[in-house]
Amino acid sequence: MGQYEWVEKLPHERLPQHVAIILDGNGRWAKEHSVSRSKGHLAGAENVETISDALIDMGIPYLTVYAFSTENWKRRQEDVSYLMMLLKRYLVKNKKDAIRRNIRIRVLGDKQGLAPDLRDLIEDVEQATASLDSFYLQFAINYGGRDEIRRAVQKIAAEGIKAEEITEEVIGAHLDTADIPDPDLLIRTSGEERISNFLLWQLAYSEFYFSPKYWPDFTPQDLEEAILDYAGRQRRFGGRK
Ligand code: FPP
Repeated sequence: MGQYEWVEKLPHERLPQHVAIILDGNGRWAKEHSVSRSKGHLAGAENVETISDALIDMGIPYLTVYAFSTENWKRRQEDVSYLMMLLKRYLVKNKKDAIRRNIRIRVLGDKQGLAPDLRDLIEDVEQATASLDSFYLQFAINYGGRDEIRRAVQKIAAEGIKAEEITEEVIGAHLDTADIPDPDLLIRTSGEERISNFLLWQLAYSEFYFSPKYWPDFTPQDLEEAILDYAGRQRRFGGRK
């Protein structure tokens, strides 16, 4: 038995295959610790690494994190530039490590709206890890669920697909998550209970779990609790048992 004894005892079909997380509470964490908001984001970024390592150890193959929304541009300039710097630093720092550990990294969101240097970095890491398949890590950056659907509809129209040919599968295939399974479990930290324009299409049948902890304080043990909670739920996908 490894570190996650309870999770390891669960039958495979009770384990989520895809966990999505709304990382919330970095700012409040910083305030609580009387440090700058940047320190809160830094602690938050470090925790993304801790939690992805825990998911890998638990044998859960997909993690998607909401790192920067289409609405986050309205924040103070220093907050925005620090978050962008953290994302760049993460990609530079983790490229080699991802390749070594067979991790595929992808970015969801409108890349056209990002600075060219970040866009180039994303393209480089996405290409370098495109064939890797032990763990799939998605960062939603300049991402909004409505914007993603809008871009998908534009692509469908541009391809000249006829109205009667537009099925849910066609829409799904034009989203940023085209070949990624829908999340089974959505976690939001910091006590807020809303989805804030995250994966609107993909979360249709996901289970939601809200933790009162601020994101930098959310530990692998908290993750284990969320997964055990998920494992006890009955998913009916709108049907009856
Ligand atoms: C919410 O905290 C957090 C964000 C808007 C950004 C999340 C981004 C990171 C943790 C860094 C990027 C990740 C990596 C791996 C480089 P908040 O500032 O809204 O907190 P508050 O609601 O308490 O103010």
